[in-house]
Amino acid sequence: MKIEAVTSPTIALDAPPWVRHEALKHWVAQVCALTRPERVVWCDGSQAEYDRLCGELVAAGTFFPLNPAKRPGSYLSRSDPSDVARVEDRTFICSVHRQDAGPTNNWVEPLDMKRTLTRLFDGCMRGRTLYVVPFSMGPLGSPIAQIGVELTDSAYVAVSMRIMTRMGRSAMELLGEDGAFVPCLHSVGMPLAPGQPDVPWPCNPEHKYIVHFPEEHAIWSYGSGYGGNALLGKKCFALRIASSMGRDQGWLAEHMLILGVQSPQGDKSYLAAAFPSACGKTNFAMLIPPPAFAGWKVTTVGDDIAWIKPDAQGRLRAINPEFGFFGVAPGTSWQSNPNAMETLRANCIFTNVALTEDGDVWWEGMTDTPPARLTDWQGEAWTPDCGRKAAHPNARFTVPAAQCPSIDPAWEDPAGVPISAFVFGGRRSSTVPLVLESFSWTDGVYLAATMGSETTAAAAGKVGDVRRDPFAMLPFCGYNMADYFDHWLSMAHRLTETPRIFCVNWFRKTADGRFLWPGYGENMRVLKWIVDRCHGRTQAVQSPLGWMPASQEILWEGLPETVQEAFHDAMSLHREEWMRELLLHEELFIRLYDRLPKELALRRELMLAALSRAPERWSLPA
Ligand code: OXD
Ligand code: MN
Repeated sequence: MKIEAVTSPTIALDAPPWVRHEALKHWVAQVCALTRPERVVWCDGSQAEYDRLCGELVAAGTFFPLNPAKRPGSYLSRSDPSDVARVEDRTFICSVHRQDAGPTNNWVEPLDMKRTLTRLFDGCMRGRTLYVVPFSMGPLGSPIAQIGVELTDSAYVAVSMRIMTRMGRSAMELLGEDGAFVPCLHSVGMPLAPGQPDVPWPCNPEHKYIVHFPEEHAIWSYGSGYGGNALLGKKCFALRIASSMGRDQGWLAEHMLILGVQSPQGDKSYLAAAFPSACGKTNFAMLIPPPAFAGWKVTTVGDDIAWIKPDAQGRLRAINPEFGFFGVAPGTSWQSNPNAMETLRANCIFTNVALTEDGDVWWEGMTDTPPARLTDWQGEAWTPDCGRKAAHPNARFTVPAAQCPSIDPAWEDPAGVPISAFVFGGRRSSTVPLVLESFSWTDGVYLAATMGSETTAAAAGKVGDVRRDPFAMLPFCGYNMADYFDHWLSMAHRLTETPRIFCVNWFRKTADGRFLWPGYGENMRVLKWIVDRCHGRTQAVQSPLGWMPASQEILWEGLPETVQEAFHDAMSLHREEWMRELLLHEELFIRLYDRLPKELALRRELMLAALSRAPERWSLPA
């Protein structure tokens, strides 16, 4: 990567002997010359280093150690109130040609952006430490994995990267003298003048830039210390840059969880499932089957991102490129997700949750009755009647994936796990049925491309609006969305066997606003049908839009009859609603008009034809 107008380095780099990559050292020197940190720390990823950095964060007031009897090895951090979530409107895909970023991404001409960023990065690490953070996305040495190096002036980022990625000396050693890596440059954008005291959560209130250069495979992030803006291995690398690598190299980088389902007969199937933010992805990835499913087991490979490649036999295999979970805390409870609660018992970094009087954490939805007194996410005294949330709605936990009781035995298999099905879901209170299997690969790509979800606190827009979120990738696709659809269509030609594609909606409601489906562990009933379809063990009914399970194909044991009755409503298709829905699909297609694959426009016409022949309300046969 070229950085303009830099002078020679002013501080000794002192790279340890296990750093043998001259180009990398040169890049670090260039960045130092530009950003002027006070010192450089090469992260080796050891426990001792992690403990030392956490100690420094405690001393700086960024971390608060939680009660070791309640939450051993864990810390609470409170962000600046202005730095609490990803900033989609400040996220840029700076491809050489605007059309390659496409209409769903912010774009600025790359040299122009580099000039802006170089001005901002000039001297931005004064008074701070620059951490060199080498990391592997994916099991070390896996043919699907990739190496990145993040240069950051945030110790919070360095310790979080140790949880979220395979970070440190072994990743650096894999790079050798000349291995390829994705350079990820990050600054909180708050230099310190000599003697100026630091704040617990430095960030830049005015300027935030999350920038990707897809042709160079480079990332520059400025001004935020939070989550996906700052832990650059995650959304920036593993989704935006990797999706564009995947397009060029014939693989897929997806916003998908990966789970395994084992039947009582012992057969094991793996599914990859895409849901927009705040649709219970982590809960689904860690699902515990209800008692009626004796002998069935669900295991977790990943909760957020999947890298998926055809193997030598033409079968898709997936890895979870991450090493930890960075999940939304509010709503997580012993009821909604016992596996997550078990995972969170120790060694966590919590950000923007509330603190209990006995030094533990709490968030909305953790217990039915909130504690009588808390310290809220901003450090203020809190009581249940004070009218404020105790935790920020986007409060997070950062925790090692290996601590999850449902972690799959093959989650670190460098070859990845074979994928039998893709599942796409959104949050829709009407229109979209509980489950639908596409008629074909092309049809499945259509369903995924036109997915929508009602917005919640994590996304921009008015809460409750339907936002079109193709493949749950709207904020994460690193290139033109129409080209992305085309890439998915073309994947079929690289495979000997295409996985089945399903669409689910756990969130459909009655006209008076009650959920039609119980969700959580009961989603196993739908999951079993999906897996049985993959094994040819169950029947399906043809609806105007895809294959559906007849009621008798679902295992109902253990659920009240009312749920079985509601199932018919949850599966029904209303012609008027779907005609409106198809108009919204057209809106998306018009935005993507110049590169939209013809198959998708054609598929829409066929759906219109099928719906025009369907009854006003289509239901499954009784
Ligand atoms: C996430 C997201 O943080 O999707 O995982 O927003
Ligand atoms: Mn996500």
